[in-house]
Amino acid sequence: MSEEGPAGWGEPLYAAVLGLAGVGAGTRLLDLGCGPGLFAAAAAARGAHVTGMDADPGAVAAARAAVPDGRFAVGDVHDPPPGPFDVAAAVQLLSHVANPVAVLRAAARVAPQVAVTVWGQEHECDVRAFGEALAPWLPSRRTPAGPPPVTDPARLAKLVGLAGLEVAERAEVVCPFDYADADAVVAPLLAAGIGRMAAARVGQAAVREAVLDRLAPHRTSAGGYRLANLFRIVLVRRTAG
Ligand SMILES: C[S@@+](CC[C@H](N)C(=O)[O-])C[C@H]1O[C@@H](n2cnc3c(N)ncnc32)[C@H](O)[C@@H]1O
Repeated sequence: MSEEGPAGWGEPLYAAVLGLAGVGAGTRLLDLGCGPGLFAAAAAARGAHVTGMDADPGAVAAARAAVPDGRFAVGDVHDPPPGPFDVAAAVQLLSHVANPVAVLRAAARVAPQVAVTVWGQEHECDVRAFGEALAPWLPSRRTPAGPPPVTDPARLAKLVGLAGLEVAERAEVVCPFDYADADAVVAPLLAAGIGRMAAARVGQAAVREAVLDRLAPHRTSAGGYRLANLFRIVLVRRTAG
């Protein structure tokens, strides 16, 4: 599932995380895997003192531009800065790291609470429609060997426990992906990996037709498209005692 969506899609998610973790003026926040700094900017707008890190130097440069008062560094989230911080955030991060348990444990060493977000399960996210529409022209999907993904709530709870932590609070947020019209849906898809792969086999017109056909139930009365996607937030703390 792509993390990419129309501009602004993450705002409800960021607001929910910041609310759940009680981030406000003066909160010392560590943003792990900060990407281009969108969540960091939302935190800074509430008066938080933001420190961010990401493995991607380009993302760190963008984060610095987005939050000039923040402190950002290129680095590996398995080895976060010592802080101390009031809150560590792992927003849309855990599915990308080599060792999510180690990341959670390290985050909890430098902050008493850690806010984690993940996508909902596939059936809870309308963006699955893109993959479904293009499936005839994509390599068949096999269920990967190994444990379930972190999008499985039971798996996420297990990882938290393996890190020696406990879930203090949970929340679910729906983030709509809103597209003004058909072109706003199709153009980014044709530029993305699965769109390019399918178009190489059947051409852009067939891709467009298949996607718009599959998205018909998501058409709005204004002629746009709205895909509703679920995200889960868990606020994690060290276990008492
Ligand atoms: C899906 S993006 C999320 C970015 C940001 N948190 C957001 O929500 O917009 C995941 C980010 O994690 C970063 N990342 C993945 N593994 C990492 C690691 N081991 N150390 C630091 N950053 C990492 C990637 O470079 C990427 O920017």
